[in-house]
Amino acid sequence: MCGIIAGVSQRDITKILLKGLMCLEYRGYDSSGLAIVDKYGHIKRLRCLGNVKKLKEAVEKDNLIGLIGLAHTRWATHGIPSEINAHPHLSDYIIVVHNGIIENHEALRKQLISYGYVFSSETDTEVIAHLLHFRQKQKDRPLLEVVLQTIPKMTGSFGIVVMDSRNPSLIIAVRKGNPLVIGCGKEENFVASDQLALLSISNKFIHLEEGDVAEIYSDKIKIFNIMGKIINRNKISLNVNCEITNNKGIYSHYMQKEIYDQPLAIKNTLKGRCNNKEINFSELGVNISAFLKKIEHIKVVACGTSYNSGLVARYWFESLARIPCDVEIASEFRYRKFQVHRNSLLIVLSQSGETADTLAALRLSKKFNFIGSLAICNVLYSSIVRESDLYLITKSGIEIGVASTKTFTSQLIVLLMLATKLGSLNGMNLELQYNIIKSIQILPHRIEQVLKKDKLIQLVAKDFLDKNHALFIGRGDHYPIAMEGALKLKEISYIHAEAYAAGELKHGPLALIDNRMPVIVIAPNNELINKLKCNIEEIKTRGGLLYIFTDNNTGFIEKDRNMKIISLPYIENITAPIFYTIPLQLLSYYVALIKSRNIDQPRNLAKSVTVE
Ligand code: F6R
Repeated sequence: MCGIIAGVSQRDITKILLKGLMCLEYRGYDSSGLAIVDKYGHIKRLRCLGNVKKLKEAVEKDNLIGLIGLAHTRWATHGIPSEINAHPHLSDYIIVVHNGIIENHEALRKQLISYGYVFSSETDTEVIAHLLHFRQKQKDRPLLEVVLQTIPKMTGSFGIVVMDSRNPSLIIAVRKGNPLVIGCGKEENFVASDQLALLSISNKFIHLEEGDVAEIYSDKIKIFNIMGKIINRNKISLNVNCEITNNKGIYSHYMQKEIYDQPLAIKNTLKGRCNNKEINFSELGVNISAFLKKIEHIKVVACGTSYNSGLVARYWFESLARIPCDVEIASEFRYRKFQVHRNSLLIVLSQSGETADTLAALRLSKKFNFIGSLAICNVLYSSIVRESDLYLITKSGIEIGVASTKTFTSQLIVLLMLATKLGSLNGMNLELQYNIIKSIQILPHRIEQVLKKDKLIQLVAKDFLDKNHALFIGRGDHYPIAMEGALKLKEISYIHAEAYAAGELKHGPLALIDNRMPVIVIAPNNELINKLKCNIEEIKTRGGLLYIFTDNNTGFIEKDRNMKIISLPYIENITAPIFYTIPLQLLSYYVALIKSRNIDQPRNLAKSVTVE
């Protein structure tokens, strides 16, 4: 995790660094820092515990000005969140910011201490600064040469940016495992962990590839491979509206805005891919139907919320396309001795496209005989997209809130389209296909309807003010929606929440039920509703507090204070998992709000998880 931005220009860049850093806060926000070299060659460094707003205030107070500098927003791995552990780290004239982990930092630290270096932080990053300084001191050489010779001494994954205050016209960026992108401006160049941070200076970008080392001056950029051989990387132009990222509009939080963005996010994701009769994935190439027809098995790999969307998709792949599917957590998959089925497609799901474990699983898959890899992702040009054979982009727009909302439902709509497409290639009857397509097309409208339940859900949320635990239950394709509901509640309200397949309760979790345990039931009007009603009775007779999210027509009646019915508008069965996600997102949002949590930046988390 962690966000980096650095630049070299002919004008003062402190404001640019701070603005960029704000856009990177989703990568970590426990502390932040900035260092510039002023016109006298002096290093000015400011670091703060807490988010970038605090750093901005400190920078404004000290009136820092510089043409070259580095900045960082941190998600602690080695060393507690504190000012001394915040980046940039220094070793005399060497200045470093870092995203990732130096796995052999302990051995290097010992070695450097024996050479007389004194460490002022507990971080692995400080090792990089001293190591560079040590090698530079041995023999005065160009910074590039020193960096190239130092990289092989460090194991782990990292994106680093380095500067030498004695030569304040150059920054060096290294990508080994963690993403870095160069933004090419006019008489100035910047580098950052994400192009989002650079939109205010340029729409021209160079994405560094694994092992790239870039020498960045204000008027030129040179890229080398790890052997020091100069290489060519394409410059791409992107037109993204920067305001989307920084504008909450009428909403109090990004998460709230992003929940409300969902009808539009889904409409955008459907555009050009779904007409009245069929699903069109021609963006995947002219021969795509022949390729899809060969698929006999699907393996989905993802983390967190993206994993939950994979679990829903399994129901669709198996029921609509009749293709067996397994879904795995990326961090487990990559260390398991798995077997690859014949003609198996690997699908990697990721909002950010940078999640370290998902990316590592994708890389690992290349050593096995998958028929191909398909990324479903919200960020074009992310590592996962660039390294997959095929990709489908969700068009949710930028998601700032750490808790995924609109990107989850957009992933689901792409997965449903894919399952329908595979089904149609595998002989799905046309009437079913048309009905699914109709349900997909009307979904944005249905979501607008369910969002109107906002006030009702806000009232329900009040019951959770004094709660520390909650259970979520669902059946069939709504079991993963219960999992997603529980994940959302725990991550932003800090209530311990667990999800169970409703039929599993009697195998253990029923012991938890009493009149202080809220049980949130996802009860759409489908073929499993009568089974679910039996499970609800089991909870009721044991005094559990029931919150039943259901359809108007399921016949639930609020008989006593221990049972609340949240009646939702009609929804077609096939898209119900997407639809039922929305009220659960609202519930988490309002519970977190009444508990005064930091909704967009929950404690200990970051949006882009680039460490294993
Ligand atoms: C939860 C959440 C995380 C992410 C997970 C994977 O709201 O956002 O669980 O889903 O870190 O991230 P991506 O989808 O970027 O690979």
